[in-house]
Amino acid sequence: MAAGMRGAALRLCAAVLLLDVALCKGFVEDLDESFKDNRKDDIWLVDFYAPWCGHCKKLEPIWNEVGLEMKSIGSPVKVGKMDATSYSSIASEFGVRGYPTIKLLKGDLAYNYRGPRTKDDIIEFAHRVSGALIRPLPSQQMFEHMQKRHRVFFVYIGGESPLKEKYIDAASELIVYTYFFSASEEVCPEHITLKELPAVLVFKDGAYFVYDEYEDGDLSSWINRERFQNYLTMDGFLLYELGDTGKLVAVAVIDEKNVSVEHTRLKSIIQEVARDYRDQFHRDFQFGHMDGSDYINTLLMDELNVPTVVVLNTSNQQYFLLDRQIQSTEDMVQFINRILDGTVQAQGGDSILQRLKRMIFDAKSTIVSVFKSSPVMGCFLFGLPLGVISIMCYGIYTADTDGGHLEERYEVSRSELESQEADEEEESAAEQEPRGGRPLLPAGQGPKDVLEKKTD
Ligand SMILES: *[C@@H]1O[C@H](CO)[C@@H](O)[C@H](O)[C@H]1NC(C)=O
Ligand SMILES: *[C@@H]1O[C@H](CO)[C@@H](O)[C@H](O)[C@H]1NC(C)=O
Repeated sequence: MAAGMRGAALRLCAAVLLLDVALCKGFVEDLDESFKDNRKDDIWLVDFYAPWCGHCKKLEPIWNEVGLEMKSIGSPVKVGKMDATSYSSIASEFGVRGYPTIKLLKGDLAYNYRGPRTKDDIIEFAHRVSGALIRPLPSQQMFEHMQKRHRVFFVYIGGESPLKEKYIDAASELIVYTYFFSASEEVCPEHITLKELPAVLVFKDGAYFVYDEYEDGDLSSWINRERFQNYLTMDGFLLYELGDTGKLVAVAVIDEKNVSVEHTRLKSIIQEVARDYRDQFHRDFQFGHMDGSDYINTLLMDELNVPTVVVLNTSNQQYFLLDRQIQSTEDMVQFINRILDGTVQAQGGDSILQRLKRMIFDAKSTIVSVFKSSPVMGCFLFGLPLGVISIMCYGIYTADTDGGHLEERYEVSRSELESQEADEEEESAAEQEPRGGRPLLPAGQGPKDVLEKKTD
């Protein structure tokens, strides 16, 4: 039924599309000042954008599709967009700092979306966050269905208890990232054996793991650590998020396009260690691989020879490298054990010296990239002190100035303007998508931003 309606709506829109693209935008409401007072009874998914921002323009067609789909499946979530530059006071009340910012607003709560900007991911987020915080699993079939459907999810098993209160608290903060269910013991699949009830379990990597208050500590931080699959395809965004877990991250840095055996072997070694040594290492380690070394090189301020394995400490920005190639699973396990017992020397870190090195490194790469993208601008910026001196000399030696000089300066300032605009875009993008050059965030700094309790 819903699919039929959706199909019809899509066809309708496709027909309309032929006539006028703009009409499809009707599914996204353009919001203004009145939004602040009118929004209270509804759940809203809002794109706060700036007209000049390139990433916002890229999001716009996706956002229109999100609006269309939410409407056609009959979602209670309303989709809107707000020009955050025109209504900056409202935007700043909602904690908008970069563009585009996607938020789901539900009563007094504002949930930030930080995932990939694709239609499906955004819609999944909206469904998850707008729905029940804890979803009951009424039957064993439902249990099994969820196992097929979600790569990672959490389940509370048992009746009312203090643990359940903590579970609800944790869910209200972490619902932006993952799914929370509850079930009674009766509907638990037989293969699950629990020593005691109530219990909190995570299902992932084709298995389940039980929360142990004494060994795992605080429930929220356990969930925050366990919400990732054991082995991941890493990118800058994910590495930044992993900073919240305080784990060591073991990454095979490879070139996915390179078919030589060294690359594929290294990847499978890490996969094997992640799978076969989970019990030993999962509390301290996250495993994965990363395609290409650009990001890691900026992070480490080093030039790595790909393929290689790097172990990053997300708490203090230190890292570990082996001076030889890892040849086997045993090699990798030995490397990890040596890191844990402190016999491998850590490099990097966040000491004053490292920060100084980072500053110089960043300055150097900024200068290089400015010169690469706009030599005129580069000369203008870094040649300025020299320029001032030569203009002074020029002024001294020539009494009359001609127009040519002026024209040249106009050229420079125009290109300066252009690249300033580009910089602004980049800057706000960096806030949303951490990339190379930004050190890993210290543990515990992330999730606070994600959920901002609003009390207006
Ligand atoms: C693939 O990687 C190997 C090192 O493992 C390197 O010698 C070779 O040049 C790479 N090939 C390509 C096409 O980059
Ligand atoms: C990682 O960093 C934290 C915080 O500085 C530190 O306590 C921990 O020992 C480090 N881990 C390793 C293996 O060096």
